[in-house]
Amino acid sequence: MLGRKIFIPIRLSIILCILALSACVSRPNPESTDATLQAAESSGKKTYKDLVVGYAQIGAESEWRTGNTASIKEAAESLGVELIFSDAQQKPENQIKAIRTFIAQRVDVIGVSPLIETGWESVFQEAKDAGIPIILVDRRAKVPEELFAAHLGSDFIEEGRRAARVMVRLLDGKGSIVELEGTPDSAPANDRYKGFREIIQDYPEMKIIASVSGDFTRAKGKEVMEDLLMLYGDQIDALYSHNDDMAIGAIKAIEEYGLKPGEDIKIVSIDAIRDAFKAMLDGKLNATVECNPLLGPQFFELALKVVNGEEVPKWIPSQEGIYYPEDAEELLPTRKY
Ligand code: AHR
Repeated sequence: MLGRKIFIPIRLSIILCILALSACVSRPNPESTDATLQAAESSGKKTYKDLVVGYAQIGAESEWRTGNTASIKEAAESLGVELIFSDAQQKPENQIKAIRTFIAQRVDVIGVSPLIETGWESVFQEAKDAGIPIILVDRRAKVPEELFAAHLGSDFIEEGRRAARVMVRLLDGKGSIVELEGTPDSAPANDRYKGFREIIQDYPEMKIIASVSGDFTRAKGKEVMEDLLMLYGDQIDALYSHNDDMAIGAIKAIEEYGLKPGEDIKIVSIDAIRDAFKAMLDGKLNATVECNPLLGPQFFELALKVVNGEEVPKWIPSQEGIYYPEDAEELLPTRKY
């Protein structure tokens, strides 16, 4: 509906680079963990089989998220970690409740992907007071660094910059762009918004004519794109979508409007889910910037290190690429989400 907010792009943000202590955390190998089990036990350190982990997930808003949940559950199962999993169904208050329950249950570690960036300080402090480390997975939270042990996840600002660089090439430096934003106040929506503008501001003939939240879902992506087409119609040269699910919803809206997605309206989105590869094969999506949800094995390796008092980097950024239609046929069968 057009009652929702539409931002006309006046806001130009200068982003300071986040310098991260980045170190690779290799994937745990269940065979080698078996081999080191005895050594760990005799040293008094915990092993995967001793770990009880509470995980406060956001919900199931996108294919990315369901891939992320599957990765966490599968890794817990294969490593023998006891996982207490909670699905907040897109409500930050449910995530906070879940964290309080995990504290009461005296879990060893709490993993959380914060739906929005703010509002976490009190509950993280409660976990700290109870001696239970918090690990942020995927999304950041705006809290003092001492309130969490580590953050494992993507550089969302860089994803926005990458999408913008691709868009500059697709539009040859000029054109009118509409933007589908993710969940308001979430780290990926805030950062992808900023990163994109950091690059676009150097191209005065590229205009972001509207920026609206589609909440990271296909249904809202379609609904918002319908509104934007009613408002701007043929003026729209390109769509920048903060995730593939919204782009896929928007592709439907563009087709129903009578335009060709990928041709009449160029489309760049983020995640690199399987359906994005299918859309690229059909010529309806011009590029997808990868955001890796397969964080389960790294998360539990990190959790074990934290519980055993080992030094870990504060931020472990994911390694990610960009994919184009010409890659799609070869890569689609290899995609795991
Ligand atoms: O936090 C990562 C984002 O959340 C993904 O890009 C999106 O698809 C998901 O819902």
